Amino acid sequence: MLASVLGLFSQDLAVDLGTSNTRVQLRTSPLVADEPTVVAVHTDRAGRRRITAFGSEARPMLGRTPDDLSAIQPIRAGRVVDFEVTEALLLHLVRRIHGRSAWIRPRMVVAVPHHASDMEVRAVRDSCESAGAREVRLVPRPIAAGLGAGLPIHEPSGTLVVDVGGGATEVSILSLSGVVASAVVPGGGEGMDEAIVSMLEEDRSLLVGRPSAERLKIELGTAAFPETDRTATVKGRCRVAGIPRSELISARDVHRALRPHVDAIAEAVRRVVDAAPPEIGADIVDQGVVLTGGGAKLRDLDRALRERTGLPVVCAEAPEHAVITGVWRVLEDPDLYRAAS
Ligand SMILES: Nc1ncnc2c1ncn2[C@@H]1O[C@H](COP(=O)(O)OP(=O)(O)OP(=O)(O)O)[C@@H](O)[C@H]1O
Ligand SMILES: [Mg+2]
Repeated sequence: MLASVLGLFSQDLAVDLGTSNTRVQLRTSPLVADEPTVVAVHTDRAGRRRITAFGSEARPMLGRTPDDLSAIQPIRAGRVVDFEVTEALLLHLVRRIHGRSAWIRPRMVVAVPHHASDMEVRAVRDSCESAGAREVRLVPRPIAAGLGAGLPIHEPSGTLVVDVGGGATEVSILSLSGVVASAVVPGGGEGMDEAIVSMLEEDRSLLVGRPSAERLKIELGTAAFPETDRTATVKGRCRVAGIPRSELISARDVHRALRPHVDAIAEAVRRVVDAAPPEIGADIVDQGVVLTGGGAKLRDLDRALRERTGLPVVCAEAPEHAVITGVWRVLEDPDLYRAAS
């Protein structure tokens, strides 16, 4: 009786701790809480750290903080690099969802990188427990992405998922609820932003921050060569004169910066298909490739990968929510994924 009452009140959670965005979904709700994975930390003279802002409130602080304040991204390339801050972020999200009811101890299902080490897995588990979880289950991210994109991951047939995240692009072939072959392309969407920053510095002697580069990517970026050349203005600081100035940037400029990333993703897809057993390779030729992750929204990425690999490629619906949707499905029905160990 007590257990069922507790079960009724405990709001079980699905969690996707991403490099750029942290997503949390209640078992009982279709809504996804989506916050940038950024935490502002104040360090006093004694070196004590105090958290002053989270998520969308902390993100504008990136690159704009005074000496005693830092805007920290505790996950890099999909991996937890600052456990204390990750735990604080999780606690913040859980509290925001549950209100002040600290006594509610939810079950949590969390996506973890396929190649996560035992130490990383333990750290994610510990962070969730410190944030109040009474039980933690982990799902490999590619499995979650496949489930969330509606792929038949349980069947004895290969399906290929390309998750273009903020910190990395993970290419994975799934079959029989497992990962058969995989490759990671470093950089992800944030790497694309950095490529735009470098292009502006080298070609225009213009210094801009990553958020401005991301805006250009979203506004003008294309994975395939843009037939019509649109433009946008970007503000920055002249590397030579040191003064602020703005420049008109074209979609073709941005495409030039992004192209090596698109090539690297296509190359990884080819490599993974080549490394898979022949039967699985044949399945992929039939079933094709599904794109997930926020980076999959880059214009024409599906077309560019189709042209480079010769495989059918489609973008998942709401690709940025594929992983959290998959994790949520496991929360709802634990039989959908059971870890081998
Ligand atoms: N319309 C768009 N065009 C291109 N890129 C986009 C678009 N919308 C979002 N992105 C990029 O998607 C990336 C974030 O994707 P996502 O939220 O899936 O990453 P994440 O899950 O936090 O990271 P990771 O899975 O690597 O840990 C960012 O780099 C963002 O700039
Ligand atoms: Mg992700």
